[in-house]
Amino acid sequence: MKLHNIFLLIFVALWRPTTQHIFLNKFYGNYQEQLRTQDEIHSAKYEYEIKTINMPIDHFSFSKVDTFKLRYLVNNTWQKEENAPIFFYTGNEGNIETFAQNTGFMWEIAPEFGALLIFAEHRYYGESMPYGNKSYANINNLGYLTSQQALADYIDLIEYLRSKPEYKHSPVVVFGGSYGGMLSAWIRMKYPHIIQGAIASSAPILQFSGVTECETFARIVTSDFRKAHSNCPKLIRKSWNTITNITSSDKGKEWLSEDWKLCKPLKNETDVKQFKSYLEDVYANLAVVNYPYKANFLAPLPAYPVNAVCKHLTNESLSGTELLTAVHKAINVFTNYTSETKCLDLNNSTPQLDAVGWPFQSCTEMVMPMCSDGVNDMFEPNPWNLDEYSKECMKKFSVTPQSNLVCEQYGCKDLSTATNIIFSNGLMDPWSSGGVLQNLSSSAIAIIIPESAHHLDLRSSEINDPYSVILARKYHRYFIKQWIKEHREKEGKLH
Ligand SMILES: *[C@@H]1O[C@H](CO)[C@@H](O)[C@H](O)[C@H]1NC(C)=O
Ligand SMILES: *[C@@H]1O[C@H](CO)[C@@H](O)[C@H](O)[C@H]1NC(C)=O
Ligand SMILES: *[C@@H]1O[C@H](CO)[C@@H](O)[C@H](O)[C@H]1NC(C)=O
Ligand SMILES: *[C@@H]1O[C@H](CO)[C@@H](O)[C@H](O)[C@H]1NC(C)=O
Ligand SMILES: *[C@@H]1O[C@H](CO)[C@@H](O)[C@H](O)[C@H]1NC(C)=O
Ligand SMILES: *[C@@H]1O[C@H](CO)[C@@H](O)[C@H](O)[C@H]1NC(C)=O
Ligand SMILES: *[C@@H]1O[C@H](CO)[C@@H](O)[C@H](O)[C@H]1NC(C)=O
Ligand SMILES: *[C@@H]1O[C@H](CO)[C@@H](O)[C@H](O)[C@H]1NC(C)=O
Repeated sequence: MKLHNIFLLIFVALWRPTTQHIFLNKFYGNYQEQLRTQDEIHSAKYEYEIKTINMPIDHFSFSKVDTFKLRYLVNNTWQKEENAPIFFYTGNEGNIETFAQNTGFMWEIAPEFGALLIFAEHRYYGESMPYGNKSYANINNLGYLTSQQALADYIDLIEYLRSKPEYKHSPVVVFGGSYGGMLSAWIRMKYPHIIQGAIASSAPILQFSGVTECETFARIVTSDFRKAHSNCPKLIRKSWNTITNITSSDKGKEWLSEDWKLCKPLKNETDVKQFKSYLEDVYANLAVVNYPYKANFLAPLPAYPVNAVCKHLTNESLSGTELLTAVHKAINVFTNYTSETKCLDLNNSTPQLDAVGWPFQSCTEMVMPMCSDGVNDMFEPNPWNLDEYSKECMKKFSVTPQSNLVCEQYGCKDLSTATNIIFSNGLMDPWSSGGVLQNLSSSAIAIIIPESAHHLDLRSSEINDPYSVILARKYHRYFIKQWIKEHREKEGKLH
């Protein structure tokens, strides 16, 4: 399958321990696997040179001197003069080439700014493995996978670039979407003397304990479905009990396995739980990629795929097997759009390296509480339970999550000292739940894009882009110009 138009710069795997089985774990792992096919890289739209730079494995102690090779991508085609602006993508949880190919906005504006383009890979992802194929082998090797270390990598790389005479006074503007957007915002907050400004798209820097309510994400997903048809979330909500009821007998399990063409029939409670969890993932995914134009990702999706799903879920009186058959038709929009899916594979545990990185980060710093109540959202009630979550993390990685770490490190509640950051969020994107939706200061600005899903604004321009996305990109360009001008004025005074 050709993947010309890949959509997701997403959280690859918001890993949920089995007992906390809400949202986005396995399915995302599958995407990630698909995203990294050679096919994709060969059919790539943008070109760059691939380089590496030696990085300390540990930036924060003097006791460890080991280094590893961090990968980064360079394109200097548009740079015309000395001290050209450096447009720097702060890589997120995946192969950096994927992010380079899916951040068309940077490529589109580079000529106008005469900018040098850099895409830096996040440590422990893609080919930037501190301990080679043993990077994930144990906690001693894996423990250096933190956002602080990643930011320090990016700073070292920028300092290396600026150590060359031609970039000595170059302004640096960082870009990122999703987790990459969080890194962009944080690197400007932490290192304002090195980074002149940040475009942080769909960056849920507030999706943390005590800051954002854990239900918000589920409610936004539900609201996207409600917008498509008011009965749609009602029927989905009804379907959970129907599934429980029907699968309570062996005959029912058999029926469902056959009707849904599951690759492996449901045998017990655990299988049923996995089945439900799979459905939750699909719904959340649909909301995240609910883009306004037809696109060809994984399977081709129609414009506003949530609408296509909800077309099958409008008849409020559906119940029992009829309801589940309708739900099957509905999710086929996503899982079988090409009509080529032979059977539905609920087994998403892809023990790929990249699928391990984010689960580990979720078990250490990136603890993003999520829950559903089944009343204000269309999911099964599932409270947030940090104790259980912690137990699973201990079992899986021998670590205890530090759910306050991010807010301690970067700030959550009072960000009024932040400057030169654009936080853009699409209101249809469930991740806007943890986004910055209000201006923090006169130059840390929130841009709301009502019609947008997950960081549409960083993608290349499309004919069907809603006006609000076009406008957001105009804002970005305007502020980038300001930051560069400010920097040039300051440098002019200094030298
Ligand atoms: C940079 O991108 C331009 C335009 O896509 C391309 O022509 C050029 O070959 C690229 N440079 C490198 C070093 O890949
Ligand atoms: C891991 O890497 C080492 C050294 O590069 C190599 O010799 C070994 O075969 C690799 N092991 C696996 C399982 O890939
Ligand atoms: C559960 O299934 C039985 C038949 O298997 C049916 O009579 C009953 O109405 C169902 N209950 C619900 C809540 O769907
Ligand atoms: C449930 O069935 C699966 C196979 O479908 C099996 O791997 C698993 O161990 C079973 N779990 C329990 C709790 O019986
Ligand atoms: C809605 O579903 C009910 C129950 O299956 C059925 O009797 C009715 O005809 C359906 N209505 C429409 C408009 O399809
Ligand atoms: C996918 O669609 C095709 C054509 O409608 C159908 O034959 C196939 O069974 C479907 N697969 C699944 C898993 O539903
Ligand atoms: C599920 O995944 C595991 C690990 O990749 C694999 O061993 C197993 O065969 C898979 N089962 C199915 C039904 O795909
Ligand atoms: C945020 O700041 C921008 C730019 O100064 C301004 O246009 C916008 O109205 C502000 N938004 C709010 C909600 O104050």
